[in-house]
Amino acid sequence: MQRQRLTILGSTGSIGTSTLDIVRQFPERFHVTALSCRNRVRELAEQIQEFRPQMVCVGTAEQAQWLVDHIVQEDLQVVYGEDGLVHVAAEAESDLVVAGIVGAAGLRSTYAAVEAGRNIALANKETMVLAGELILSKAASTGSIILPVDSEHNAIFQSLVGHRSEDIEKIILTASGGPFRDTPFSEFSKITLQDALRHPNWEMGNKITIDSATMMNKGLEVIEARWLFDLPVKQIEVVIHRESIVHSLVAYSDGSFIAQLGLPDMRTPIAYCLAYPERVPLRVPKLNLAEIGKLHFEPVVPEKYPCLELAMQAAHCGGAAPAVLNGANEAVVEAYLQGQIHFLDISRILKAVMKHYVNQSDSLKILSFSDAVREDVPNAIRSIDDALLADQWGRQQAAGLLQ
Ligand SMILES: NC(=O)c1ccc[n+]([C@@H]2O[C@H](COP(=O)([O-])OP(=O)(O)OC[C@H]3O[C@@H](n4cnc5c(N)ncnc54)[C@H](OP(=O)(O)O)[C@@H]3O)[C@@H](O)[C@H]2O)c1
Repeated sequence: MQRQRLTILGSTGSIGTSTLDIVRQFPERFHVTALSCRNRVRELAEQIQEFRPQMVCVGTAEQAQWLVDHIVQEDLQVVYGEDGLVHVAAEAESDLVVAGIVGAAGLRSTYAAVEAGRNIALANKETMVLAGELILSKAASTGSIILPVDSEHNAIFQSLVGHRSEDIEKIILTASGGPFRDTPFSEFSKITLQDALRHPNWEMGNKITIDSATMMNKGLEVIEARWLFDLPVKQIEVVIHRESIVHSLVAYSDGSFIAQLGLPDMRTPIAYCLAYPERVPLRVPKLNLAEIGKLHFEPVVPEKYPCLELAMQAAHCGGAAPAVLNGANEAVVEAYLQGQIHFLDISRILKAVMKHYVNQSDSLKILSFSDAVREDVPNAIRSIDDALLADQWGRQQAAGLLQ
């Protein structure tokens, strides 16, 4: 069997290193041809020595020079910056591009890979939030297949196999509820950054960990699911499931619910994408249901998770609203990680940005696309530039409020 050639964008991150662990387990099956990082060049250098890619991308020209000076691999092509990422995504010899960059920074490279007709293992949910419709229509024209890595979307994807889309009643995304699921809202004012970074079930990068604590992550996932599975937002439900064993479900019209279960380990959904449509005998801890004993499901308490509500409203609103919210969220989460604001400020600032976006001064209850027609933000996402402009507008509004 020919080895599958992999490009891993964001190889030094949580998704990237989990992917490399799978490659390590199945060297006869997978082969890394390209890697990328932004800052962690020393980790990248170790990966280069182990996996011998043909092409790598780093953040800056200085980092690229550092790599050239420190790596003895004559055939290695080293590029840098956003143009470098786009080059790697589109030009590296590859059968599958793992989109594992965090945030809107992953959009251009993912789009370039789709444009080049590459198959994508998509972890970078922000790509779908910013420009889902555009990405899917480009994929349809280039023949690029998009396989969802996010555990919830991967579970839905697996639960859809062999079924007709017209038989779907709804999809149910499970959410752990993050570290504050048992904290009363009255105690939220005492939350520290360390508390928010302590996810009960998953080990992930900092940005998604904070998004999980606010449940903005689940909101972004609703938007991602809306595009990936071509469903209106009203057919997407969120339920809290504290064990993170049932990764998501599809409810069909005859009353059947089909789910995918497993221990919370991202290597399982990543391996599914890498080997699709086959499966590999992955060495990961396996689920023992008798040991787990009970599984719990609870409704979301909206008061505790205003970011989820904001994202749902942005999803209903459509147009540029999800991109605006995403940009604002990235700026605010970055400020939170830097210790500049309190946990409760995250949703306060995001709410203020979205109110401003729809030109409303009091309630954000009714967001409608027509309310959101503005001159300084694109009203629809017709290009990647539109998506990035809307995202940038959200960031700027948030930055103004942060000051
Ligand atoms: N982690 C999970 O379990 C998980 C689960 C589901 C979905 N996801 C999604 O997967 C994506 C990656 O998440 P993660 O947790 O793996 O993030 P992470 O651990 O923070 O890693 C992010 C990766 O992207 C690179 N990167 C960051 N900013 C960049 C920029 N501006 N330009 C180029 N590269 C950049 C980082 O390079 P440096 O290391 O050099 O900074 C790193 O390799 C996110 O969209 C997240 O929502 C993650």
